[in-house]
Amino acid sequence: MRILSGIQPSGSLHLGNYFGMMKPALKLQEEGEAFYFIANYHSMTSLFDPEKRRQNTLEVALDFLACGLDTSRTVFFRQSDVPEVTELTWILTSLTPMGLLERCHSYKDKLAKGIMPNHGLFAYPVLMASDILIYDSNIVPVGKDQKQHVEVARDIAIKFNQQYGETFVLPEPQIQADTAAVPGLDGQKMSKSYGNTIEIFGNEKMLRKKIMGLVMDSRSVEEPKPDADRNIAIQLMKLVAPAEVATDYEEKLRSGGFGYGELKKALFEHYWNFFSEARERRKELLNNLDTVEQILQNGAEKARGIAQTVLKRARRASGLE
Ligand code: ADP
Ligand code: TRP
Repeated sequence: MRILSGIQPSGSLHLGNYFGMMKPALKLQEEGEAFYFIANYHSMTSLFDPEKRRQNTLEVALDFLACGLDTSRTVFFRQSDVPEVTELTWILTSLTPMGLLERCHSYKDKLAKGIMPNHGLFAYPVLMASDILIYDSNIVPVGKDQKQHVEVARDIAIKFNQQYGETFVLPEPQIQADTAAVPGLDGQKMSKSYGNTIEIFGNEKMLRKKIMGLVMDSRSVEEPKPDADRNIAIQLMKLVAPAEVATDYEEKLRSGGFGYGELKKALFEHYWNFFSEARERRKELLNNLDTVEQILQNGAEKARGIAQTVLKRARRASGLE
């Protein structure tokens, strides 16, 4: 069973990315042959600073490796190191109805936000379909927001198989149900675009300040808080602290006499501990950037072998060869 997923290089990863995407992806490494890549071609639809793209790509690689990506079993690479994926994108493009892409929520959301779309933004799901199909992927773990794109990939594969004969494996999306949305500093879903993130790694002082700045209500310390389970700090605590510790804090809030300041301090300590080993690994990796580059290149070499085989299949089937 081949598992494949990609992540855009949009800067340092945050707790939402970790619990919503990385942690399940790291778990899946044990269940099949996982292919994970950094979607730097996709980032071209919305990021236009070359140095930033390079830097963000490196940050994501470091974050992923530090958090436990096992390179002895998982193929980890940069999307653009397998340029075959862009040729397959073109082949798939002419089998993709405009209407299918016009219906994509993520495209429609961007239009609604007033973004002037470039063709890349519109064609984004076709490149994603190519990413998925070129590695004969069976399972694609993604966040809810990306489910529709995986379904588009499946539709395109069906269309191709009907038109040119059995060529592609049909992929299935896999959505993580229990980590629907990690809340950010202001209680909305944690997201870079809302500026409410807590990064996995970074400067201790700055991160402490962020957590101490979590938005709480103005009830007094003494007042009991029967809605403690909805408190952002409690929700985050449940992710980074042992279950009984989180429950204990929830009870303290519920009974009253326990202040938000104390709660935030405790949250910071648990969060900081939770990633302490990963933080050490990241430091080591940062001092061995050649090793990181080597990992990505080895990954690309393996991925490319498969991509070339599948692309050849598609070229033959469609009469290019
Ligand atoms: P952002 O919203 O910060 O731009 P992305 O859209 O790049 O994050 O998300 C990358 C991955 O992390 C996706 O699989 C997405 O579903 C997951 N993710 C991002 N934010 C959260 C969150 N707050 N809770 C759960 N999962 C999240
Ligand atoms: N579009 C995905 C995101 O923004 C990233 C991505 C690109 C991807 N290609 C993919 C995810 C292929 C899964 C499979 O999160």
